[in-house]
Amino acid sequence: MTAHTSASTALDTPSYTATQLVRERTLRAIRANPSSARISELARAAAAAFVDVLRRHDVTDAEFHALKSWLISLGDNGEWPLLLDLFAERTITERANPDGATPSSTEGPYYIPGQPQLTSPCVLPMRADEPGTSLILTGRVTATDGSPIAYANLDIWQTDDSGHYSGFTPGIPADNLRGVVTTDDHGRFEIETILPKPYRIPADGAVGTLFTKAKWNPWRPSTVHATVTKLGYFPVTTQLYFDTGATSDAVSDRIDPELVLDLTTGPEGTVRATYCFVLGAVEP
Ligand SMILES: [Fe+2]
Repeated sequence: MTAHTSASTALDTPSYTATQLVRERTLRAIRANPSSARISELARAAAAAFVDVLRRHDVTDAEFHALKSWLISLGDNGEWPLLLDLFAERTITERANPDGATPSSTEGPYYIPGQPQLTSPCVLPMRADEPGTSLILTGRVTATDGSPIAYANLDIWQTDDSGHYSGFTPGIPADNLRGVVTTDDHGRFEIETILPKPYRIPADGAVGTLFTKAKWNPWRPSTVHATVTKLGYFPVTTQLYFDTGATSDAVSDRIDPELVLDLTTGPEGTVRATYCFVLGAVEP
C-alpha cells in the first residue's frame, strides 16, 4: 500500500500521519497524569524486561547494534505508532472490554477524528465513481441485556477497493469512506459503502523491514473499523471482518470468529452483512 506513517509525501488532499494523530491523543490522555512512583515502576519494569531478552537469548554485540540502528530508523520514519498498534495496543483494549460486550480490537494507525456526521440509513462519503463491490452493512447497537441503544454513534473507517485509506493516500478525498453514523431510535443502522480490500503493512519502512526479515505475514484482511459510543456506556473500538477466505492477520495470530461476518449477495451484485454491537453500561 502507498499509505505510510511518515509525513514525507506531498499530497493533493489534506494528509495526516499516524505520529501526528498519536501525539494529539497522547496529549489528551496525559491529563491522567500518572504519579512519579508509577512512572518509575513502569519504566524500570520495561527496562528489566528488555535486559531479560538480551540475557536469555544471548544477544550478540552485532545484534544489539543492529537493533539500535533499527530503533533509530523506526523513530526517524515515524513508525512507533504502527509498531505499538501491531504488538501492544490489543492487550490494552481487550483488558478494558466489559463482560458481554463486543470484543475489542486494535484501533490501528489510520483513524482520523472529526469525520462527517451521518444519520442512518446513510451512504458513507465516497467518490462518484467509487470502484468496488457495493456493501450494505446493517445491524443494531444494544446493551448487554439486549435492549436497543438509540442514537449511538458509529465512527466508521475502512480501505477502498485498492486497499488504501483516505487521509494517508494522495488523490483520495480526506473523508472518503469515513463517517460517524447515528443509529435510529431503535438502535438500528444501515450503511451503504463498498467492500474494503486487504492491505499490507507498509513495506518501505523499519516495520516493513522487520516483517520481511522475519518472514512474517504482512497482510491485513478486509476490515471495517468502528468505534461505537453512547453516553453511559463503555465505548467499543473493534473491527468487522468478512468471510472472504482470510484466516490470518498481520496484527493477530487469530481472527475472533465473532467478528467475522457472513456476506450474502443480492441479485444486483450488492453484498450485505449484519452485526449487532453490544456495549457495557458504565453503571449496570
Ligand atoms: Fe485497518
